[in-house]
Amino acid sequence: MSIRPQQFQKLLLSWFDRHGRKHLPWQKNKTPYRVWISEIMLQQTQVATVIPYYEQFMQHYPDLSSLAMANEDDVLHLWAGLGYYSRARNLLRAARMIIRDFAGKLPNNAEQLRQLPGIGESTAGAILSIAFNQPAAILDGNVKRVLARLHAVTQPVNDKKIETRLWELAKSYTPSRRTADYTQAIMDLGATLCTRSKPQCAACPLASHCAAHQLGIADQLPKKKSARKLPIRTSTFIILEYNGKLLLNKRPSSGIWGGLWSFPEIPGAPDLSLLRAFCRKHYQINVTTCRELESFRHTFSHYHLDIQPVVIPIRRKPAKIMEGAGQIWYNPSQPEAIGLPKPVQTIIGHWENCDDTTNTLHEAAKRSRRIGTTAASRRNGEKNL
Ligand code: ADE
Repeated sequence: MSIRPQQFQKLLLSWFDRHGRKHLPWQKNKTPYRVWISEIMLQQTQVATVIPYYEQFMQHYPDLSSLAMANEDDVLHLWAGLGYYSRARNLLRAARMIIRDFAGKLPNNAEQLRQLPGIGESTAGAILSIAFNQPAAILDGNVKRVLARLHAVTQPVNDKKIETRLWELAKSYTPSRRTADYTQAIMDLGATLCTRSKPQCAACPLASHCAAHQLGIADQLPKKKSARKLPIRTSTFIILEYNGKLLLNKRPSSGIWGGLWSFPEIPGAPDLSLLRAFCRKHYQINVTTCRELESFRHTFSHYHLDIQPVVIPIRRKPAKIMEGAGQIWYNPSQPEAIGLPKPVQTIIGHWENCDDTTNTLHEAAKRSRRIGTTAASRRNGEKNL
């Protein structure tokens, strides 16, 4: 079963004219800059999540030069919670490159777009087609799903060879006219009808041409090479609490949460003697009391992190802590505009909501022996305490 590109485009575009999304924020006052920001935010993140972040971002940085002049902390602050923070750092780097190398204008060709950090082949295609109406193809997750079903591709779509084949299909269907609408249409079809689970084939304009639908296997495609089981790591987050403020460190600019602010960490489950030694070494503090906050799991793309926050209240400001040199006393009731990863926001929320009766070290030590031992019990909602 196959469908000619022209017929595919006709069916898809007339569906889009009736049902496609035409009022998304980045579709208003369309400029290459606005489209670029939206496409970066929409990598790995759903439309509904992106919208409020996008609106905020545009209020702060309405154009390329305002972004290029921004400081990284402010950009990361606006990104906080959206995840994959390298996207924000790359946006800032790319904005500065565009000012320096491309006279302040987002390039309108794939070769130059792909020189910018954060822009791969599919994002370049999305920018060229949506912002410049050029006949460039895209192949994001939605499009892969639509094409894998249309052609009943039963091999894993994350296999290199299959991906190459899907790119060929994507290019063959991309029209030379109305490309902006076409690109939006195929993404919208994937997001609203040709969904990962429970595809609504009865409403799909392509159903009678869709090989997977004809074979009754639409909901089983696309297949992926079975994902590696993610390893589990455990980390103790140290919440030094002084006079209603919490100590945060700025993380190195590369790696997990690069450039964001987080709590000091000791790898592994809480261990009282390590905790004491750590605080003595880094802050010259003698730990006398501490208390645990709720532990929880944060999942990165390549591992699970089981986080156990331990609050250590202190009465005197340690001389060793140098504010301004990558360390701050963060006051949650007067928060500064800095980027906090989601788990740090969660911990601050728990800290604000918990009563502050401190446990004795002895009690904490007993508990700490149990922490981190049964990830399954945590998943089942059992309390560690
Ligand atoms: N995902 C990636 N780009 C998108 C867009 N422009 N609209 C909706 N979802 C998208």
